[in-house]
Amino acid sequence: MNQKKFNSPGIPPLAESEKFNKFHLSRFIGDIFCKLKIHNLFRPVLPVFKKLIHISELSEWISAHAHLRFNDFFTLHYNYESRLKLYEAIFTSQNLNRPINYLEFGVAGGNSFSWWHVNNDHPDSTFYGFDTFTGLPEDWGVFKKGHFSTDGNVPKLDDSRCVFIKGLFQSTLQEFIKETTFEKRNVIHIDSDLYTSCLFVLTTLAPKIKPDDILIFDDFKMEHSEFRAMINFMDSFHFDYEVIGAANNYSHVAIRIIKIKRESPAVA
Ligand SMILES: C[S@@+](CC[C@H](N)C(=O)[O-])C[C@H]1O[C@@H](n2cnc3c(N)ncnc32)[C@H](O)[C@@H]1O
Repeated sequence: MNQKKFNSPGIPPLAESEKFNKFHLSRFIGDIFCKLKIHNLFRPVLPVFKKLIHISELSEWISAHAHLRFNDFFTLHYNYESRLKLYEAIFTSQNLNRPINYLEFGVAGGNSFSWWHVNNDHPDSTFYGFDTFTGLPEDWGVFKKGHFSTDGNVPKLDDSRCVFIKGLFQSTLQEFIKETTFEKRNVIHIDSDLYTSCLFVLTTLAPKIKPDDILIFDDFKMEHSEFRAMINFMDSFHFDYEVIGAANNYSHVAIRIIKIKRESPAVA
């Protein structure tokens, strides 16, 4: 067999400091860790460390977003219905009884979805509900794959403004985006529990998200869940946001997009 000859492009590599510094040390430690498979030593205690890191980062984030118009933190009385109070608060403060483009990811029987189409009665509003309707596509904590299934049935609502899109978000959302206009104010409600689902939805919708759009997260605090997906998303896509409400000690959180930062560093 003829051996292919590869050519060097002739572009000099980026200069690296010759002196052994922190960067080299960290790279060296990482290499040794991998070579000696030290992860085997840490595996038994890793879940505890992961939990600690998660709760510390969440706690820091909560402290940084403590002064909200609507916030029940700290309460000892967890009440799932408090999320409806959060909807009411943002509906009023954000003036949402206007034409909106409501997108809910994780509809199941339609409990939260119904609240929005019943309370926003503007004829030009549209309400899109996305779900497999056969339950969670993967295990999520104590909830196993298939939990929340409605046996493939979408909620029966007598409102032509409501449309349900059946299937995995990963199979339906890209096509949906091509066929839909996003001129109205978007209210994006994520109640799909999984980190993977949340991150996929946010990153796929990113080109359509604009200042003043509202994001609502229903299970914000859980480990490896919406908090992590939201932070990773905002950092990577350079969105500036403000938190506009929280209920049940930040289990349910609403955010308003302020702007999209797109500056590159100044030329030195
Ligand atoms: C907690 S339930 C939704 C509850 C609903 N919003 C309510 O208020 O009753 C979560 C839903 O997310 C859906 N889901 C999660 N990840 C999904 C994905 N990648 N694609 C489609 N549906 C997904 C599940 O099928 C499940 O019905």
